[in-house]
Amino acid sequence: KGKRAFIAGVADDNGYGWAIAKSLAAAGAEILVGTWVPALNIFESSLRRGKFDESRVLPDGSLMEITKVYPLDAVFDNPDDVPEEVKANKRYAGSSNWTVQEAAEAVKSDFGSIDILVHSLANGPEVTKPLLETSRKGYLAAISASSYSYVSLLKHFLPIINRGGSSISLTYIASERIIPGYGGGMSSAKAALESDTRVLAFEAGRKKRIRVNTISAGPLRSRAAKAIGFIDMMIDYSLVNAPLQKELSAEEVGNTAAFLASPLASAITGAVIYVDNGLNTMGVGV
Ligand code: NAI
Repeated sequence: KGKRAFIAGVADDNGYGWAIAKSLAAAGAEILVGTWVPALNIFESSLRRGKFDESRVLPDGSLMEITKVYPLDAVFDNPDDVPEEVKANKRYAGSSNWTVQEAAEAVKSDFGSIDILVHSLANGPEVTKPLLETSRKGYLAAISASSYSYVSLLKHFLPIINRGGSSISLTYIASERIIPGYGGGMSSAKAALESDTRVLAFEAGRKKRIRVNTISAGPLRSRAAKAIGFIDMMIDYSLVNAPLQKELSAEEVGNTAAFLASPLASAITGAVIYVDNGLNTMGVGV
């Protein structure tokens, strides 16, 4: 039987989440996505109006189907966490059941279970500020949206992930090497995400033999990356300095996710897998 995947963090056709959805769909999986509430209307109407149709084409010529789009805000675990001003916000008031716990419950009542859980989201309100200029609030917001969001998603979806399933997140080399410009506590958030990948691999592995891995991806011109402001420079730097001197395509990350979610990767868990044209291995730029 085909597998079912829930991919959190898809709001357009430019990011890693979309590419992962495509690779999983090409491998035969049914696709459910979680879309950030403020981006939900534009994403759903663009999907409906065919704006993504060119990007939906799979290798066999068919179009990727997204079975259902769930609203999600991964910084809130349940309705008790949601402040009044967010509840009153027009964009949020227009949808319901978008906290992590409610999204998991909705998927459970619609489909019963999933096999693959993907976390492809991050947010750091002060990402353009150096760490020395980052406020406590900005730092904690980065950790909440980019690291704890994954702990929370896995915790709430674990009961409905089938035994032997797989979970994947996306990380960045700034967790372990200095990348000036990746500020606001985002480097700290990725370090936490990678450490949590190991601990969660142990806990989910012992509980349900679920594998937990993270992909350390090279630079991609996504919506989130453009907001950081240095993405073109990072892409150029990689082109010049990486062992493989080619632009990284989102599809290469998507294909790695499909491999990690498949039985071909049945002994891989707790790992940080680099999909970056080898840039991480360089000690000096040449
Ligand atoms: P993207 O913009 O396609 O994806 C980020 C998504 O996170 C967006 O859809 C946004 O709506 C969503 N989001 C933000 N806050 C949220 C919240 N509170 N609840 C739910 N969703 C929320 O950008 P990209 O770059 O594809 O990002 C996906 C992952 O890849 C992130 O973890 C990012 O850090 C990682 N990554 C990206 C790299 C790049 O160069 N683009 C390099 C290495 C890792």
